[in-house]
Amino acid sequence: MTAFLERYGPWALVAGASAGLGEAFARALVARGLRVVLVARRSGPLEALASELRARPGAEVRTAALDLARPDVAEEADRIVQGLEVGLLVYNAAHSVIGPFLDHPLEEQLRVIDVNCRGPLALAHRLGTQMARRGRGGIVLMTSLAASQGSPLIASYAASKAFNLVLAEGLWDELGLRGVDVLACRAGATDTPGYASSRPKATVPLQDPARVVEATLRALGRGPSLVPGGFNAFSAFLLGRLLPRRTAVRIMGRATRRLYG
Ligand SMILES: NC(=O)c1ccc[n+]([C@@H]2O[C@H](COP(=O)([O-])OP(=O)(O)OC[C@H]3O[C@@H](n4cnc5c(N)ncnc54)[C@H](OP(=O)(O)O)[C@@H]3O)[C@@H](O)[C@H]2O)c1
Repeated sequence: MTAFLERYGPWALVAGASAGLGEAFARALVARGLRVVLVARRSGPLEALASELRARPGAEVRTAALDLARPDVAEEADRIVQGLEVGLLVYNAAHSVIGPFLDHPLEEQLRVIDVNCRGPLALAHRLGTQMARRGRGGIVLMTSLAASQGSPLIASYAASKAFNLVLAEGLWDELGLRGVDVLACRAGATDTPGYASSRPKATVPLQDPARVVEATLRALGRGPSLVPGGFNAFSAFLLGRLLPRRTAVRIMGRATRRLYG
């Protein structure tokens, strides 16, 4: 715990902290003694979580209501962290468009790029600059098993998650040489409000957000990416490494059609 705090403290910023995995990250980081800045659009859930966390001895929690799709997200992040030494960034927020690609307006598809690609790139650049100057810190980008291959009915979301994975892998090497640990968490289906609101038509085994978060924080500094859960790790190996790419896409398509077709 102390080593984690020394390496990644004193402040952490969790982007997309009001629910699901982001909320679990906030809890786990406060439990490790970090001070946290919680960012999401809805101030109600953010404030509720913040006041619960502040009840813990020594906890320091700030909130910032922000739409991470904003074109000036980097400047907004500067404003939010002004005067704070942020040693850890968790970019957890995501926008997902589910259903046939052509059935959704272009603006909605482009929002996927704003929230899932431009947001993490901008925050990793801004906060990563400060971390590299200090020679220590960490960046976690949340991605998905869908990042390994094209995924019908969630095509733009999966493509954005591939962006997160490849960005994190590159920065793992590049920023790692400057003392900053970077990790992509390739999560599988996880029991969150976001997953529930996607209204899946079939039941699949869901992971517990707290366990995904613990595995992720433990893996930080140990490699470029992590697939939490044994079954998910096996699936990722099968789809991403063993099978021909077109077969992997077809298998993924069967799974997403069962859920969302
Ligand atoms: N759950 C899964 O099955 C699963 C599987 C694989 C990967 N993942 C990845 O894990 C991450 C978290 O997923 P989750 O299921 O926990 O999501 P979630 O329950 O929908 O929560 C997403 C969080 O991001 C915030 N957010 C969304 N859009 C935002 C925006 N434009 N600006 C600011 N904040 C925004 C939401 O708060 P507000 O609504 O208040 O803004 C919320 O706090 C995502 O990156 C997702 O791709 C999840």
